[in-house]
Amino acid sequence: MIKNDLFLKALKGETVERPPVWMMRQAGRYLPDFIKLRDKYDFFTRCRTPELAAEITVMPIHQVGTDAAILFSDILVVPQAMNIEVEMKPGVGPWLPNPIRSMKDVEQVIVPNIEETLGYVMEAVKMTKKELNDEVPLIGFAGSPWTILCYAVQGQGSKNYDIAKEFCFTQPQAAHLLLQKITDTTIAYLKAKVEAGVDAVQLFDSWGGMLSPEDYQQFSWKYMQQIIDALKGITPVIAFGKGCWFALDKMAVSGAKALGVDWTCSPQMARKLTGGEITLQGNFDPARLFSPPEDIKRMVHQMINDFGKDRYIVNLGHGILPNIPVENAIAFVEAVKEYNAKPNRF
Ligand code: CP3
Repeated sequence: MIKNDLFLKALKGETVERPPVWMMRQAGRYLPDFIKLRDKYDFFTRCRTPELAAEITVMPIHQVGTDAAILFSDILVVPQAMNIEVEMKPGVGPWLPNPIRSMKDVEQVIVPNIEETLGYVMEAVKMTKKELNDEVPLIGFAGSPWTILCYAVQGQGSKNYDIAKEFCFTQPQAAHLLLQKITDTTIAYLKAKVEAGVDAVQLFDSWGGMLSPEDYQQFSWKYMQQIIDALKGITPVIAFGKGCWFALDKMAVSGAKALGVDWTCSPQMARKLTGGEITLQGNFDPARLFSPPEDIKRMVHQMINDFGKDRYIVNLGHGILPNIPVENAIAFVEAVKEYNAKPNRF
């Protein structure tokens, strides 16, 4: 059905002529056409208007040439639907005027009806699928329950999420109730996205690496595992935990179809920790896209050699930075497409 199915083949572990490539946060940020739209409409208007979300989602497919699209939206639309107010302050990022700090606050949080609160995301998925015309697959996503808790409790981005951690360690009952509400909402949300048409989903555990290995299991992975279990047989799940190399062994036996790896873990180490069978995704240092295009291409070829071309999805180790020149993002993608063309490759 889908013309370029490299990404889906890699998720199934099938042999490919070259690995697929996409970039986390590829829809927006560094693209000049996106920046023009950003000046016209505020952030959540762009998320809530299916025409705009679809237009932004397909931009990197046409302008950069990635092998998969990721829906333009945000992980924070989920807490918004749960009765937690979230604003996006230009130049600051997420801003929650009433952060959650007590059991009483958690009790106010709802597990919403998805169609009523997030129906606009499903409309965006349907419209995007039409625009993509089966050229490449569409990835849906959600934040991990822990990462959503980080914003809901901290109230904004943070270097160490100290308030979120204090909440978990001093009020564990309230923290677990909140995590469970986010988990239940996320499961219903991702199921609805699959019904609307996404071909795979990624869980972003952007702040999982803030936790110790033991706390990670208790406050993050336990809930990610519930989501993976609930989506089994429904859609392939990619689990990405930033800074979570220490949990890769458990992730590898979770039922996730692929695991995201950041640049602090070498490809060889990631293969070793995961047993060599599961598809891996990553892990180019996003700041390395500042290097000259010839260096980017050399490093990408080395990265593919190190991961191996099969059971591998080329990506960055975290989101693309806003000030990356588009030519450099294109060089990253082209390097992957040229990989197969290189003669005498061993
Ligand atoms: O590829 C894509 O960009 C698809 C859409 C997407 C956005 N956010 C759009 C966005 C995705 C997949 C996300 C996920 C997301 N959002 C994560 C997980 C991934 C990661 O980077 O770890 C997180 C932690 C968030 C929360 C968030 N949203 C932050 C911290 C910020 C501000 C800083 C920034 O620019 O990323 C946002 C705003 C946001 N989300 C923007 C975009 C394009 C920029 C704001 C704007 O355009 O006005």
